[in-house]
Amino acid sequence: MVLVKKVFLTTALLSVSLFAADAQTILNDNGCFSCHAIASKKAAPAFSGVARRNQRFNGAGAKEAIMYSIKNGSQGKYRHFAGLKMPAFSHLTQEELSSVADFILAQASKGGSCKGGGQGHGYGMGMGMGMGMQRGGM
Ligand code: HEC
Repeated sequence: MVLVKKVFLTTALLSVSLFAADAQTILNDNGCFSCHAIASKKAAPAFSGVARRNQRFNGAGAKEAIMYSIKNGSQGKYRHFAGLKMPAFSHLTQEELSSVADFILAQASKGGSCKGGGQGHGYGMGMGMGMGMQRGGM
């Protein structure tokens, strides 16, 4: 079942983006979208906000941090979702985690709450980031 769907999806979306097709299959199959949406809040922070938050706080380590959170679960990082918990998806393989993390990071420019753009270099320098209003709020 899963395999058939995967092959179908991959074929259908091949011309768009291979990694995205794969990642979306994983997200669908694991029910991620029952709590998350790409660019709007649902029962969990939007993937676009997750991408921006991790880029801001974790810089070059953003991808790893996201993979870690999916595998081990997460709680208390996003103020709006303080009472809620991200379940652990420990059965996902490194490849699946990697594909999903790439997909999530690629959503950074979606949605409207931050200025977006200009990501990539210059973060993680330890300067000018201590403003106190950087926490949560996605
Ligand atoms: C039961 C609801 C639920 C499901 C299902 C769910 N999540 Fe989450 N997710 C959350 C909540 C709530 C948070 C916020 C956690 C926090 O505040 O630390 C979150 C946070 C996250 C984060 C951000 C963690 C961080 O460190 O910034 C990522 C990435 C994420 N989820 C990915 C996924 C993926 C991928 C799936 C499917 C495999 C998934 N989620 C399924 C509820 C869910």
